Amino acid sequence: MSTTARKRASLIGWGAITALAVLYGPMAIEYMWRFFNPDAPELWNHTFGAVVDHEEAYGPGSIEAEQVVQYTQNRYILLFHTTAGGIAIVLFAAQFSARVRRNLARHRLIGRFAASIALIGMAGAMAFLLAVGPEGTFDGAAFYLQLWALALGTTIGVGLGLAAAVKRQIAMHQALMAYAFALLLTAPLLRVFYLFLGNLWPETTQLETNLAGAAFLATWAPLGAFLAARALDVRQRRTTAIGPLPGRALDLGVLATAVVAAAALGWRYSTAFDGLDRVTTTGLVGVVAGLSVALTNHLAARRAGNDLAAEEWRVIGLAQLAGAPTGVVLWALYDLPFTTYDAYLGMLLTAPALALSIGFLVVVWRRRVVRRTTRSGEAAQLVDH
Ligand code: HEM
Repeated sequence: MSTTARKRASLIGWGAITALAVLYGPMAIEYMWRFFNPDAPELWNHTFGAVVDHEEAYGPGSIEAEQVVQYTQNRYILLFHTTAGGIAIVLFAAQFSARVRRNLARHRLIGRFAASIALIGMAGAMAFLLAVGPEGTFDGAAFYLQLWALALGTTIGVGLGLAAAVKRQIAMHQALMAYAFALLLTAPLLRVFYLFLGNLWPETTQLETNLAGAAFLATWAPLGAFLAARALDVRQRRTTAIGPLPGRALDLGVLATAVVAAAALGWRYSTAFDGLDRVTTTGLVGVVAGLSVALTNHLAARRAGNDLAAEEWRVIGLAQLAGAPTGVVLWALYDLPFTTYDAYLGMLLTAPALALSIGFLVVVWRRRVVRRTTRSGEAAQLVDH
């Protein structure tokens, strides 16, 4: 992709994400008010009811009906969570504007506030999860497992992103903050799924559209973070201290393991359940689309002679393949405390995300700038970007 086309694509992507954050942020901030004041406007519920239908937004199987007891009992914790989450996505969106970043003092000030507020939001989420456990979470154990993964992933992303900024590892800082932001964006993106799938599957409930959206985002949240990290990458060449990755043997080993693991998953699925349900299908569409994007971009970068991009897409493609063996292990682990169905769904909602996140961390680590100490004791960069 030419530089101009890349810039245009980044601008369109950032514009769409900012619009989503600015639209949904106030709805999230206002969401819990009705547990304190019955006359609250209920911005989200009214939007949901108008775009899909009243029954889907308020009837059996809706968050509204299923979670009313848990939300009433934990209204202060959730008020913290939803208010902090709503503010955080708007501030993070602003931080990714090159214009806002141009004023470094302002970028730092907003950044410290945005990071703190995101961490407060995650503390609220974890407090809720600890208070209600898997049974008290909407959609039960599978979503509970994904919410823990999201809470921990966001906390780690923000924490490492701040540490990288302090160490002036700017490429690492940007990628890690993109990762944290992508995970935060799963909240509004899930709502987009409620609206879209609610219309596509007229007889569905939010219990199903929530799991289907979550299954798709298990691949696309970390992959979206990587797309943003690539758009932000301005390096021309790698630092000489960071050597190339192992060659073809690695690709073949990962591919063979993935094929065997995918067959094992398919076999377990077909012996435990009847036919393909819509949640699994949506998750598989996410996985296949993700793999195609990684392969296409890897080949395009190689053709263009962009070694850095080709290598990063290769790591991300391999990480996606590693999702299959990760799935085998997680399903077996989740089997211990949960039913087979919950353990399977929990695996579907977390395995691709875990494998991709590890691949993402490998990419981030390889973006570090290596400094050496000169005889006079000054730190000198080997190569920068
Ligand atoms: C990415 C990390 C996040 C985690 C781990 C998380 C966790 C949670 C949890 C545990 C719940 C209760 C779910 C249940 O009923 O079982 C919840 C609900 C909620 N969260 Fe988050 N959340 C995250 C991000 C966000 C963000 C960024 C926002 C706002 C933009 C947000 C807004 C809400 C709202 C409005 C609710 C209540 C209504 C609903 O579930 O539709 N969350 N979240």
